[in-house]
Amino acid sequence: KILILDFGSQYTQLIARRVREAQVYSELHPWDMTEAEIRAFNPSGIVLSGGPNSVYEDETPKAPDCVFELGIPVLGICYGMQTMAAQLGGAVETGHVREFGYAEIQSCGDSPLLRGIEDKEGGVLDVWMSHGDKVSGLPEGFHVICSNESTPIAGMADENRHFYALQFHPEVTHTHQGKAMLSRFVHDICGCAREWTMPHYIDEAVAHIREQVGDEEVILGLSGGVDSSVAAALLQRAIGAQLTCIFVDNGLLRLNEAEQVMEMFAGNLGVKVDHVDASEKFLSELAGVSDPEAKRKIIGREFVHVFQDEAERMPNAKWLAQGTIYPDVIESAGSKTKKAHTIKSHHNVGGLPDTLHLKLLEPLRDLFKDEVRELGVALGLPREMVYRHPFPGPGLGVRILGEVKKEYADLLRRADAIFIDELRASGWYDKTSQAFVVFLPVKSVGVMGDGRTYEWVVALRAVETQDFMTAHWAELPHALLAKVSNRIINEVRGINRVVYDVSGKPPATIEWE
Ligand code: XMP
Repeated sequence: KILILDFGSQYTQLIARRVREAQVYSELHPWDMTEAEIRAFNPSGIVLSGGPNSVYEDETPKAPDCVFELGIPVLGICYGMQTMAAQLGGAVETGHVREFGYAEIQSCGDSPLLRGIEDKEGGVLDVWMSHGDKVSGLPEGFHVICSNESTPIAGMADENRHFYALQFHPEVTHTHQGKAMLSRFVHDICGCAREWTMPHYIDEAVAHIREQVGDEEVILGLSGGVDSSVAAALLQRAIGAQLTCIFVDNGLLRLNEAEQVMEMFAGNLGVKVDHVDASEKFLSELAGVSDPEAKRKIIGREFVHVFQDEAERMPNAKWLAQGTIYPDVIESAGSKTKKAHTIKSHHNVGGLPDTLHLKLLEPLRDLFKDEVRELGVALGLPREMVYRHPFPGPGLGVRILGEVKKEYADLLRRADAIFIDELRASGWYDKTSQAFVVFLPVKSVGVMGDGRTYEWVVALRAVETQDFMTAHWAELPHALLAKVSNRIINEVRGINRVVYDVSGKPPATIEWE
């Protein structure tokens, strides 16, 4: 397995994903991981990531010395290369012109990392650069393995010690041969076998869960979302008889969602599911409340209440399972410097475990989202479920602007189902990252047949995004928008106007509240 030490680059998670795509297990840890922790992890190789710092700044992050003393291969990328050079006696030139974007470099052809890899004949590589500083003097024992005019030392290696470094980013797809380079490093140089495959993972995870849980009982809050669904399927495989899922209908679910979840889990997979219809309670608590954050807090609080009541009726349960995935783990372990502004409080984080006195079971905490999906399919969940767009914890509660009413939720559910239906039928569902309808508590005048109407407005929202931090509105074909609009207005009595949201994030957010 490969250890990736994170120096704060925005691409670090990509390194871990690329290594795993090469079927080698990798973990990401902060750069200041202790020597004892590194030794305990026992990696076959270490990657030092990029980062925003300059090696000559005060208190600049450095790789722990043991990294260069363990006798295992090390690959430094961007800042990782610079700190490797500085720490091993080379020189780094700072404060120079920034280089950002595509670059062509010439591989020298004699290094195991790059030998035979090229985009154009003669060892020319298209790479992605993003740096200010660069290595200007090689540490002892190193030689140059690739270069171009502006970056004469674009890569360096000391093959005897198995130290390699690249100034560009092999982990981004813009570096066309980046995958091949990382595969060289992990397979050929570190000697890792291609063992990180789904069937292999399932066997290991099942054994691990059984060992952890013993004969104790487990409860899991099943939301119908990808993560909790896959967690449920995995736990069912591992300790099915000891698992009870709690599915709370808060009155803010999509059309037929409760039925679908029950049919899939209780029906097809034979999972024990406690289906709690708390919709009246949620809606009565929400009555008269229009502030978005207040609504989120109420929904979060009610969920905890319902869950707690149900859990208390299962005195034998000793474990609370959660669908935490690896990016959540990385984020909450996160560097102290990255402190984000609270734009919205995402209620489904934390809160439950303390009050319930249950041990926490997180069977997906090692997996990236795409791996969770792959696992779900391997466990027999339908692709449509596993590749569903994300749905926020507070559900339609944040898609009905202002006060939530049952009447609004019923209209919205039907309009939303039509939109999703048409997206699927036209092949646009998979081309968008998230799409939904928003209910606007505004009435406008229309005409239907010979009569005047005075009815509600809904907005369609569809976005394309990689990470949900920034997003573009999707350029859906006008004919598709026309069809959706027609169907909603004709089929959902009470809505007479449909608009399309053409705002990006930022400055708008994906959800309207
Ligand atoms: P925004 O609206 O902040 O949304 O651009 C980014 C992503 O987060 C989802 N989202 C939520 N998910 N609880 C959740 O579990 C929430 O309160 C919440 N608010 C937004 C949103 O659907 C999008 O995918």
